[in-house]
Amino acid sequence: MSFDYTPLFRNNLPAPAAARWGGFPKYSFIGGNNDAASVPVQPLLDALAKVMQRDGQQLATYGMNSGPQGYRPLREAIAKLLETNAHMPTDPDDMLITTGSNQGIDLVNDAFLSAGDTVIVEEVCYASSLSRLRYLGVNYVLIDVDEDGMNMAQLDQVLADLQSKGSQAKYIYTIPTVQNPSGTIMSVEKRQKMLDLARKYGVPIFEDDCYSDLTWDGTRPPTIRSMDDAGQVIYCATFSKSIAPALRIGYVVADWPVLSQLIPLKTDGGCGALEQMALAEFCNTQFNDHVAELRGTLKAKCDLMLSVLDEQFGTTAEIIPPKGGIFIWITMPEEVDTDKLAKVAAAQGVVINPGSEWSADPVSGRHRFRLCFGNPTHAQIREGVTLLAEICHEEFGVPLRGANVER
Ligand SMILES: Cc1ncc(COP(=O)(O)O)c(C=O)c1O
Repeated sequence: MSFDYTPLFRNNLPAPAAARWGGFPKYSFIGGNNDAASVPVQPLLDALAKVMQRDGQQLATYGMNSGPQGYRPLREAIAKLLETNAHMPTDPDDMLITTGSNQGIDLVNDAFLSAGDTVIVEEVCYASSLSRLRYLGVNYVLIDVDEDGMNMAQLDQVLADLQSKGSQAKYIYTIPTVQNPSGTIMSVEKRQKMLDLARKYGVPIFEDDCYSDLTWDGTRPPTIRSMDDAGQVIYCATFSKSIAPALRIGYVVADWPVLSQLIPLKTDGGCGALEQMALAEFCNTQFNDHVAELRGTLKAKCDLMLSVLDEQFGTTAEIIPPKGGIFIWITMPEEVDTDKLAKVAAAQGVVINPGSEWSADPVSGRHRFRLCFGNPTHAQIREGVTLLAEICHEEFGVPLRGANVER
């Protein structure tokens, strides 16, 4: 009989972990994992060796002589990439290196949100951002996502309604470039409109730019922050998708009045030195070439998954091909309950994200699901999607099989 901690835990903890790690299932189409063969192992090793020889003794101090915002050469390298790739000239002193962009999201939430506050989110949205808001007891208002990004007429209406009730959203959260999970890209016109609305109603924008290195055509629209001259956009991004999630390096860019509130909330003594050092060198010399190659690899996997989905699900699955990234968002007929599909498929080794977790309104997500193609091999994509279609047919009668297949 082990000691009972239950009465000692504080109130309102998240649900406990379901189980200890038992390894990946045979067909894993969840999580923002990347293509294993594309991890630039040797270049990162070489970069690390070079920086360690030059700056290794800086490990003797917290923050490596760069203060609490993160290794300064990394901040400088990121600033250079943001200027050349994202048209966003950035002062390295307006940047905080974080443990993935998830820590950036936590810090922003910690600085701005209390239970009962309101934020505005896209109707389909990054599941971990939604679960964070739920955990914090924050209300969120949903805005539809069209093929060219958040619906601005609705956003205007929601902001006006809040204002008329004497209320105000703490921020508008958006993933404008390769939106997670819809894979859409917000048009430049809508970015400008969002900024105009943010100004009109005095609400900040929280721009999560997780996937913008991975647009298929290699071009990325200007970040919303780059279009702003009033310091009203808080920006976060990450190396998880462009290089590797296990590095756990992301960053927040914000004007000093915000950043100075985030820094004291980051109480971990700084992010790991070795990964910051390796990335600083890598970003200066090889990032763009690496990402160009990675895009090609991911696009090939995306195309394969789209063609297997078409072959196996036909018109049963409604899909808008993503404009980049690592996932496909799929809408099924109303009779397909994807919570149930996910459960039954998991028991057979096929793991998918049910749409309820990726929709601000879980009920509307009930017949949708997300498939990630970054990590599985071509063979796993082919076999896993085929098996998923069989399971779906067994459970829900669709997609039709054999002679009845609708094309
Ligand atoms: C939209 C979005 N934001 C943030 C993250 C967090 O990434 P990380 O903490 O690995 O940087 C993810 C990961 O999948 C994501 O999809």
